[in-house]
Amino acid sequence: MGKGFFISKTVGILGIIAGVGALATIIALSVVYSQEKGKNNNQNEEQTTSKPPTTTPIPSNKPWDKYRLPKNLVPETYNVTLWPRLTPDPTTGLYTFLGSSVVDFECVEDTDLILIHSNKLNYTEFENQLARLMSVSSVEAPAIKSSWLQGVTQYLVLELDGTLKKGHKYRLYTEFIGELADDLGGFYRMYIVVMATTQMQPTDARKSFPCFDEPAMKAYFFITLIHDRGTTALSNGKDIETTEINHDGQDLLKTVFERTEKMSTYLLAFIVSDYDSIGNSIDGVEIRIFARRSAIAAGQGQYALNKTGPILKFFEQYYNATYPLPKSDQIAIPDFNAGAMENWGLITYRETALLYDEAFSSNSNKEKIATIIAHELAHMWFGNLVTLRWWNDLWLNEGFASYVEYLGANNAEPEWNVTDLIVLGDIHRVFAIDALASSHPLSSKEEDIQTPAQISELFDAISYSKGASVLRMLSDFLTEDVFQLGLRAADSSKLELPDTLDNIMNTWVLQMGFPVVTINTGTGSVSQQHFLLDPEAVVTTPSPFNYQWIIPIKWMMTGNMQNPLWLTSKSETSEAMKATQDQWVLANVNMVGYYRVNYDDDNWAKLLDVLQSNHQLIPRINRAQILDDAFNLARAKIISTVQALNTTKYLSNERDYIPWKAALNNLDFFYLMFDRSEVYGPMQDYLVKKVSPLFEYYKQMTDNSSKVPDGHMDQYNQVNAISLACRTGLEECQNLVMTWFQEWMDTDTNRIHPNLRSTVYCNAIAAGGKKEWDFAWSQFIKNDSTAIESDKLRYALSCTKQPWLLNRYLEYTLDPDMIRKQDATATIVDIASNVVGQSLAWDFVRARWSYIFSQYGGGSFSFSNLVNGVTKRFSTEFELQQLKQFKADNSDVGFGSGTLALDQSIERTIANIKWVEENKENVLDWFTTEANAQ
Ligand SMILES: *[C@@H]1O[C@H](CO)[C@@H](O)[C@H](O)[C@H]1NC(C)=O
Ligand SMILES: *[C@@H]1O[C@H](CO)[C@@H](O)[C@H](O)[C@H]1NC(C)=O
Ligand SMILES: *[C@@H]1O[C@H](CO)[C@@H](O)[C@H](O)[C@H]1NC(C)=O
Ligand SMILES: *[C@@H]1O[C@H](CO)[C@@H](O)[C@H](O)[C@H]1NC(C)=O
Ligand SMILES: *[C@@H]1O[C@H](CO)[C@@H](O)[C@H](O)[C@H]1NC(C)=O
Ligand SMILES: *[C@@H]1O[C@H](CO)[C@@H](O)[C@H](O)[C@H]1NC(C)=O
Ligand SMILES: [Zn+2]
Repeated sequence: MGKGFFISKTVGILGIIAGVGALATIIALSVVYSQEKGKNNNQNEEQTTSKPPTTTPIPSNKPWDKYRLPKNLVPETYNVTLWPRLTPDPTTGLYTFLGSSVVDFECVEDTDLILIHSNKLNYTEFENQLARLMSVSSVEAPAIKSSWLQGVTQYLVLELDGTLKKGHKYRLYTEFIGELADDLGGFYRMYIVVMATTQMQPTDARKSFPCFDEPAMKAYFFITLIHDRGTTALSNGKDIETTEINHDGQDLLKTVFERTEKMSTYLLAFIVSDYDSIGNSIDGVEIRIFARRSAIAAGQGQYALNKTGPILKFFEQYYNATYPLPKSDQIAIPDFNAGAMENWGLITYRETALLYDEAFSSNSNKEKIATIIAHELAHMWFGNLVTLRWWNDLWLNEGFASYVEYLGANNAEPEWNVTDLIVLGDIHRVFAIDALASSHPLSSKEEDIQTPAQISELFDAISYSKGASVLRMLSDFLTEDVFQLGLRAADSSKLELPDTLDNIMNTWVLQMGFPVVTINTGTGSVSQQHFLLDPEAVVTTPSPFNYQWIIPIKWMMTGNMQNPLWLTSKSETSEAMKATQDQWVLANVNMVGYYRVNYDDDNWAKLLDVLQSNHQLIPRINRAQILDDAFNLARAKIISTVQALNTTKYLSNERDYIPWKAALNNLDFFYLMFDRSEVYGPMQDYLVKKVSPLFEYYKQMTDNSSKVPDGHMDQYNQVNAISLACRTGLEECQNLVMTWFQEWMDTDTNRIHPNLRSTVYCNAIAAGGKKEWDFAWSQFIKNDSTAIESDKLRYALSCTKQPWLLNRYLEYTLDPDMIRKQDATATIVDIASNVVGQSLAWDFVRARWSYIFSQYGGGSFSFSNLVNGVTKRFSTEFELQQLKQFKADNSDVGFGSGTLALDQSIERTIANIKWVEENKENVLDWFTTEANAQ
């Protein structure tokens, strides 16, 4: 999904090579992967035991009580006809869809039982049974003895009077009705707009029709949709014909689609809408962008259309394989949970992830569109053509797409230097989570991933961002060419690797966390240690490598690149790394390695000197790394907090975006910990001094802030300058944003540049009262159809400092007429990020947990964000007790995909408490001194 991989055995790989030709990258990875997997299987149980499943297995041996399908039946072809009804049933008031399905399958092992996934579907009975069974080969099909629906494991169960015979084919026919709810899962409808769409991944295809709903159970699909006149039907295949029909006295249309490729159920999509589209074609592949008519009329699909063809071509070259389908449809959907979904041939997106409008979109919106399109298109090969066998391998699929999305976007927009941004977007982001003792390894054992909730939980930052970071490291030390060409195992000797490739990769894939490498430039000693944010945290997850890694070290001496080193043991000595008085060492150049670096005090002091005197000598990614490493090493008590704060002193000279963003991300923690304490004042005084030169720099560059800079990174950093200057109370900044906002309120003409809108709106609403809030709300309602704009307003509304407005806004989040369901959790998190809203949001979530859980679904992906978001400021014993109480009180309701996040929140709170106790005084002194220094 907005972000599957199947290679488990050598046999599988061979099959794929023969099947799709030279998909070099995939083969490369699968070789690494299968070797790794072989290793994994050979290790003894104790070493690889990972976290216990979050749901206790059901104590029964009946096949229908197990979550995994038996392997005795293999689907081949489905014929599915669905009729979504976009008006409610007059008697029950329910929105429903009617369906019929034929599935042909082969029996590969004799059995007298058929299990097929089905969830929330009601069936028409044939001779008192829920399905009809026929034979397609010479033997006769046995009669159905009994049939029922198994709710928990989501099966339609058919017990037979005789056996299905190995080697024979059978056909199962069903008719059913399902609810077309506005629940964002399976086949669902929009809350407001007349439209029905699907989101199958990971386990909701079974909510649309009975199917063998596991990724490895690939089949061909013949899809037919019945829909209202005036609407268009879309699916994975090309539509072959649309005919007018009359059904139950209604005039309708029937659209039949071309047979799909052999594919997994989770990649299916069915959509009925009255949308419009624009399109073009490239080398015979038809490309179309669909959206609401008004959005297409406004030209909002154009950017996506412009970029799709080139990105497809880029990936064809990257994979050395032509795009496997005759068409590529992409559609923007108003109510959508994930960012986007890579349904084969019919990709679905949130509106903000596909639609671009010069009048409303910021450069950040634009970058997001280019990267998400690249991510989803990358899946068309890696994930869709070659698919995960089971969900435990999700990281490879998502990690890969999350890495190559930068390459695809960079190809589409070469001037942006977007590949550098993986450091902020993925590495720093996932470091924060992977440094906790409650983290987990990239790869999970197949048997640990059973229930739909466990599957959903895998869609986390580890799979996406750590996956991407580790693959980027692999690509770097192999070189991108070798990575892309694929590696023939024999070649790895030529690469001067310290060990076999799979041994290297295993240390990153099979154990959680990452190392901190400590370099002593006095002695030349280089050592590693598992980096834990809380040094006292007890790691209970065993590691097959005792938390040691095989680490590639790219480094510089006094600004000059040196020969890379490999750290293959706990500690080694390198003569090369000994520095003289006027030499300094910088390791992990451009942060290509997935680790942090610490130095002896002397080298730290030299690095800070270089930053102060000539910061350009250090690559900009490493300036960001020094900041991020220092703050995190301080959190882990490896260096002092004051030493970390010292790395920010040079910021008055810094103009580059990436280091500033890294600094702000870390200072955010100081805001979270101290914005309710006496540290706040001196901290603000210090920061306003650091940001003022940046603010001034952009003011000059942009003609008194009347326009935006040309460069992509400069555009981002201008936003940082304004945000921080206003946040720290720089009067000139506050006046500027208030004036702009006031002008908008007075004239009803919005002249604020889209890049700056989020921060300007937020700061103006924070400084204002009811009048500003109500104005922004009226604009939010008015712009409801322009998601790009309404998202900015929705965020800014959370910035008010008035508790009653925030409480009212919290109530709105659970009313889909006010705030769309897809935005509910994000809005609550926004409110919690506001110092005034924090306790209000926490009270709200605690009081409404069971309601939120039932309405927003245990399978929804935003629960971990919600839990993390409302608790991130927690730093007192009292808050810790509340959090533990919350966990105890709601254990019956459960936490779904937020289960792990809850444990992480408890761990984080404990660490915060200790940190504040130990650091408050020093930090206060430091800010006070530095604020008063000239
Ligand atoms: C499925 O649909 C296709 C195309 O309409 C048709 O050719 C085929 O016979 C159908 N198969 C079954 C089992 O109904
Ligand atoms: C399915 O049957 C249940 C129980 O009779 C009923 O409550 C539900 O509304 C039905 N669903 C649909 C979509 O008709
Ligand atoms: C799309 O491409 C056309 C032709 O190159 C160009 O004129 C137009 O500005 C582009 N639109 C966007 C939104 O990028
Ligand atoms: C694959 O690579 C070969 C050799 O470079 C090239 O001739 C062929 O066109 C490539 N195929 C695709 C689909 O890119
Ligand atoms: C921080 O910087 C100050 C002045 O630049 C220096 O005196 C002090 O020793 C540094 N503190 C640490 C812990 O590095
Ligand atoms: C991209 O990187 C190059 C080389 O580092 C630099 O010259 C250029 O200014 C950068 N572009 C932007 C938009 O930051
Ligand atoms: Zn993805």
